[in-house]
Amino acid sequence: VKKIAVLTSGGDSQGMNAALRAVVRSGLYYGLEVYGIQRGYQGLLENDIIKMDLRSVGDIIQRGGTILRSARSAEFKTPEGQQRGADVLNQHGIDGLVVIGGDGSYQGANKLSKLGIKTMGLPGTIDNDISFTDYTIGFDTAVSVVVDAVNKLRDTMSSHARSSVVEVMGRHCGDIALHAGLASGAETILVPEVEFNLDEVAERLRENFAKGKRHSIIIVAEGVGRGEDVVSKLKECHASIDARVTVLGHIQRGGAPTPFDRNLASRLGDFAVRSLINGESDKGCGIIKGELVLTDIDKVVNTKKEFNRELYDLALRLSQ
Ligand code: F6P
Repeated sequence: VKKIAVLTSGGDSQGMNAALRAVVRSGLYYGLEVYGIQRGYQGLLENDIIKMDLRSVGDIIQRGGTILRSARSAEFKTPEGQQRGADVLNQHGIDGLVVIGGDGSYQGANKLSKLGIKTMGLPGTIDNDISFTDYTIGFDTAVSVVVDAVNKLRDTMSSHARSSVVEVMGRHCGDIALHAGLASGAETILVPEVEFNLDEVAERLRENFAKGKRHSIIIVAEGVGRGEDVVSKLKECHASIDARVTVLGHIQRGGAPTPFDRNLASRLGDFAVRSLINGESDKGCGIIKGELVLTDIDKVVNTKKEFNRELYDLALRLSQ
């Protein structure tokens, strides 16, 4: 490959900028021409492509969001849109594409590779729902945002002997809830991967308060439903439960990426470029037990992320 392009697509995540920086600077280091496609696949269809240089990615490693911006493109989901995307890349002589995003973005990369474009996927999403990588870029930062919020909630909940129901993001994946729940000492973690019974949750809450607990934290992954509904149900079960809901929403997608996310993004970005140079294509880049790995994108998008049940059970054991 001689000319590569990079884009960010789907929901943004903290560390996307660090990944962009790594792709651009590695590409330039290895003598490639590097282009940035603005606003994801939609920008590709609109030919919104700019040349990147060393300075265009200066001063961004610490910034949330994505300087290339992002979009969810309905048009690119059609075969005609995908063909037009490949045509635009060919017109520019771009022979390698790095896509930073989640599941939908990987599917787009997969389609482009079938049309002859060499593609690499980098897992950029707070949800940690991409298979064949232990962590996605942005997940660690999102978890730390949640933990920070729970720390604050604990102060006021203890003063009033209340329960705090905290709804977190993650789409269909419970990883943000699990990791933030364990790290913040939550009493209950509700995730789509594990069945639960709200009557039992309410009973446990009541017993713990009776035994002298001064507050409790219940983390609800958005994949199981709304925090507000959990609060209503808990109150229905026991009128004495004084619960309040907090929906953290897009706050979880903002702020400076943690050092972990910056380093992960830097390693994966460089790995994607080196893999393209080595002739690889249609692969998702990931990190498993500290090692950088490539997996066929087809396999990545068709495999459900494994849930860490051991960690979930640990969180339960420690939350007595
Ligand atoms: O995929 C990232 C994510 O933040 C999910 O956790 C959430 O369900 C979704 O995106 C929200 O999408 P939007 O930003 O389009 O509201």
